[in-house]
Amino acid sequence: MGKATQDLRNEHDSILHSLQILDDIIKSENKDPAFFNQFYDEFLYFLKIFADKCHHGKEENILFKELIKKGLPDEGGPVGAMLQEHTQGREYIAQMTTHLEQQQFGKLNDVAAQYRELMLRHIEKENGVLFVFADRLISEEEQDALFEQFEQHEEQVIGQGVHEKLHAMIEGWQKI
Ligand SMILES: [Fe+2]
Ligand SMILES: [Fe+2]
Repeated sequence: MGKATQDLRNEHDSILHSLQILDDIIKSENKDPAFFNQFYDEFLYFLKIFADKCHHGKEENILFKELIKKGLPDEGGPVGAMLQEHTQGREYIAQMTTHLEQQQFGKLNDVAAQYRELMLRHIEKENGVLFVFADRLISEEEQDALFEQFEQHEEQVIGQGVHEKLHAMIEGWQKI
């Protein structure tokens, strides 16, 4: 397995961990608005910065482009399907942001559950299909070079300080 796909798989594990916590929050007995406000405020920040900008950014701007160069179609096929799901995920994040602003927690939880379902299936497809293709098509040396680009991308979208903030947030959620 190449270094670049391994990095993305590791990020999938972090996203899956956050989705597990989300599931616990949706099912929790706690209906306190302050509790939902704090959690969703941080959770949406995590989705926007880490899941979308950092992780989907690495996929869209770097890995998927490499796969297209290697001959996968850019529309239709697995890359197109993954891009469509990223777009759908962004729509859900926008809806969640609106529901949070309007303090509509029932609707917020419903969209969050849909987002979670989408991402679970999405990650399963990437890990099980797309990254398997990637490991066949892209050599170890090329994956090392892609990983270098990932590091630069990560530095641009989330510096060191933000990384620590994200980790501290996830630890905080586990406690509640
Ligand atoms: Fe993706
Ligand atoms: Fe992914």
